[in-house]
Amino acid sequence: MRHIVGAEQFTRMTLDELMKSARSFEKGKRNIIKDKILATLFYEPSTRTRLSFESAFIRLGGSVISTENAKEFSSAAKGETVEDTMRVINSYADVAVIRHCDAGMVARAAAVASIPVINAGDGPGQHPTQALLDLYTIYRELGRLDNLKLTLVGDLKHGRTVRSLCYVLGNYTNISLVFVSPPELSMNDDIKAHLSQQGIAFNETTSLEEGIKDADVVYMTRIQKERFRTEEEYQALKGRYVLTRTLADSMKNKAIIMHPLPRVDEIQVEVDDSPKAVYFKQAAYGVYMRMAILKYVLE
Ligand code: NCD
Repeated sequence: MRHIVGAEQFTRMTLDELMKSARSFEKGKRNIIKDKILATLFYEPSTRTRLSFESAFIRLGGSVISTENAKEFSSAAKGETVEDTMRVINSYADVAVIRHCDAGMVARAAAVASIPVINAGDGPGQHPTQALLDLYTIYRELGRLDNLKLTLVGDLKHGRTVRSLCYVLGNYTNISLVFVSPPELSMNDDIKAHLSQQGIAFNETTSLEEGIKDADVVYMTRIQKERFRTEEEYQALKGRYVLTRTLADSMKNKAIIMHPLPRVDEIQVEVDDSPKAVYFKQAAYGVYMRMAILKYVLE
């Protein structure tokens, strides 16, 4: 059975297959699934991830059942373990998309699942399907996934999207990375060790101006408010990096600006109509990639 738990599970061959499949869905392919049910179980807030998975499954021809606030409205509020919840969903649906507040919890659900389980974000752990749609966005916008300079900006410590993105980038050649973050929010050692092992060069800086100047892709992220112990700690780091229109214009001509969204204050709205800004397109590409992902796990 195919679960999607962590982005390190993907090989170049699978990634190529998923890109191709997403492209065929973008070109109009749909309704390839009959009589199947997707369950979405979200213990943490979400707009794009849950709705795009649901939209994707309906476009594929399937049906959807959902709890959008599982922390309060599912039996977790009564003290049920994620394993017991999963044992029940096994008989209600054919595939489950789960977002949880704690790292490792989706893997625990997958361990007792008899249907494919997809990790839609597990606390500060990973967000593998976001990494896949990020790759698809780069592929569609720049036409390549090798030979890229990427700059990841913001809360690299708690941000699960950038963690998963680093894992999938390990499959490509001639990739170099720049991490821009305050020292308190720098990329964790597990990811750095993985990149070194994959032979991917990375540099760290605290300067946004410095970090973005040679980039083909600037990937902005939100300071992850919900991961801080106190409001003061969050406030001290919030607003540290703001991509202004002037800064966006200073980037290389063909460079793109990405963001998994939601944005708080890290990209000024004046950047939105820059031809480099692709973050809303990125959310749209997500539906096609999630169609490809759902097809892949059900095959
Ligand atoms: C991200 C997430 O949930 O990790 N959002 C998303 O899925 N598009 C990023 C974030 O919340 O900052």
